[in-house]
Amino acid sequence: MKAIVVTDQAEGTAGMTLVERPEPEAAGNDVLVEVHASGFTPGELSWPSTWTDRLGRDRTPSIPGHELAGVVSVLGYGTTGLSVGQRVFGLTDWTRDGTLAEFAAVEARNLAPLPGDVDFTVGASLPISGLTAWQGLFEHGHLRPGQSVLAHGAAGGVGSMVAQLAREAGAYVIGTGRAADRQAVLDFGAMEFVDLENDSLEDVGGVDVVFDVIGGDIGKRSAALVRAGGTLVTIAGPPAARPSDGLAIDFVVESDRAQLGEVVQRVRDGRLRTVIGNVATLDDAVAAFNPTERTNGKTIIRVRP
Ligand SMILES: NC(=O)c1ccc[n+]([C@@H]2O[C@H](COP(=O)([O-])OP(=O)(O)OC[C@H]3O[C@@H](n4cnc5c(N)ncnc54)[C@H](OP(=O)(O)O)[C@@H]3O)[C@@H](O)[C@H]2O)c1
Repeated sequence: MKAIVVTDQAEGTAGMTLVERPEPEAAGNDVLVEVHASGFTPGELSWPSTWTDRLGRDRTPSIPGHELAGVVSVLGYGTTGLSVGQRVFGLTDWTRDGTLAEFAAVEARNLAPLPGDVDFTVGASLPISGLTAWQGLFEHGHLRPGQSVLAHGAAGGVGSMVAQLAREAGAYVIGTGRAADRQAVLDFGAMEFVDLENDSLEDVGGVDVVFDVIGGDIGKRSAALVRAGGTLVTIAGPPAARPSDGLAIDFVVESDRAQLGEVVQRVRDGRLRTVIGNVATLDDAVAAFNPTERTNGKTIIRVRP
């Protein structure tokens, strides 16, 4: 099969190569998925799981990309819950070969059915941003109706989902971003916008939940904005500061079939919008992940037309 591989962390996306690889096999509890569309998060090239297995052993050349939408083609021994020919989407194990390939072996529990009226390209764009926003807001942030949320980077992949899901859940949403992101952030449901390049973040006052996707100085200053009993949720690495009277939670997204179902149902009935930028073929994937111009939205690789 065709696949994109990486061998050297120092090279980043420039080190991606299109190669021929044997098709993976479906182990017990796995399914083999014929990949139709695949998503990739640049951050994953800096994570140890791309380069080593769980025991820390080198697993290069490894196949990056951990979001997919496709069709189940083989069931591993004893695999239950999915069937051959079923459309699925989901987030695959970070420590295994990923989805920038014609086939991927995936634990069945990491996948959910993809409804027939949802395009594979849309399906592949949802798992990381949708699950991260859901888990950060509801599992870690314990968001309740009437609370306030500061959604950083709310024009981006995760932040736009945070703004939309928090608004739907009855929260007061303040979105942040660059000056040019103002309208996009308001369109995602934020009631207020903070321009991180020109406005003072400190003017936000206090909020119940900060959802930080940026980290660094923004994350550090945001800790002071968390009200007593509130939570700083971050996905940008260990927080540089903690709320004086609240929780700081740094987590890594995991797949969850029920939550994937919640996310895709909202996309079907128009409550949730995903931001897809460039769509490229597997043959053009290396160029797509090494753009010469800034692109908006998530790059999706359409592995099969
Ligand atoms: N822990 C986890 O489980 C997990 C899960 C998903 C993602 N992540 C990580 O979370 C981060 C965000 O992911 P994403 O997919 O949402 O990325 P994204 O689509 O690039 O969104 C980030 C947004 O924040 C904006 N931004 C970044 N720095 C900014 C700054 N200093 N001032 C103003 N705006 C700024 C970006 O604007 P520009 O594009 O203009 O920079 C963009 O709109 C990445 O580092 C990713 O690796 C972690």
